[in-house]
Amino acid sequence: MTAASVPPGTVSFTAMAEGTAADYELVFAHEQAHLDSQADRVLAWLRQMDGPSPYRVSRLEHVLQSATRAERDGADDETIACALLHDIGDVIGTANHSQVGAALLRPYVSERNWWIVHHHGLFQGYYWFEHYGMDPDARDAFRLHLHYEATVRFCAEWDQNSFDPAYPTQPLGHFEPLVRALFARPPQDVFAPELR
Ligand SMILES: [Fe+2]
Ligand SMILES: [Fe+2]
Repeated sequence: MTAASVPPGTVSFTAMAEGTAADYELVFAHEQAHLDSQADRVLAWLRQMDGPSPYRVSRLEHVLQSATRAERDGADDETIACALLHDIGDVIGTANHSQVGAALLRPYVSERNWWIVHHHGLFQGYYWFEHYGMDPDARDAFRLHLHYEATVRFCAEWDQNSFDPAYPTQPLGHFEPLVRALFARPPQDVFAPELR
């Protein structure tokens, strides 16, 4: 494609190796707009978790209940938001929902909260792996890890018990400001060695 045929507002290249600084300014301006609407997409994904479920609550009610319990236990806003979003990976990556949700959160949260969300699926296995011939104590491979106890507590106090239709659970609107505040944070540099 020649420069003359490039539509306004689009890059000059058809292969990234040929891109100029001006091209990438255009790309990252677009990316910033997409970043700015991240919270809207996350809230829409949460709403997708409403509806039929094999549990006695919807998937949305489950995470709302987790966040409500976290809030009532005096957790900080970031931790409450992570309780709300711990199963968000279900929407686009059911087979590895813990890791998908953790990856979404990684640029915006502490290493501790990321670790808890990333590993919560394995740690939740404590409650059900025995029914499938798996080791309920598989999580103990991490027994010496800094965040082992916090992840055990997350599962025990906010996750495994949050399937109760009788629990007085806060609505999504109650937590929306926390979600917006979380994704309004400047994202951490995902190319930094500690986040790669
Ligand atoms: Fe989960
Ligand atoms: Fe959960």
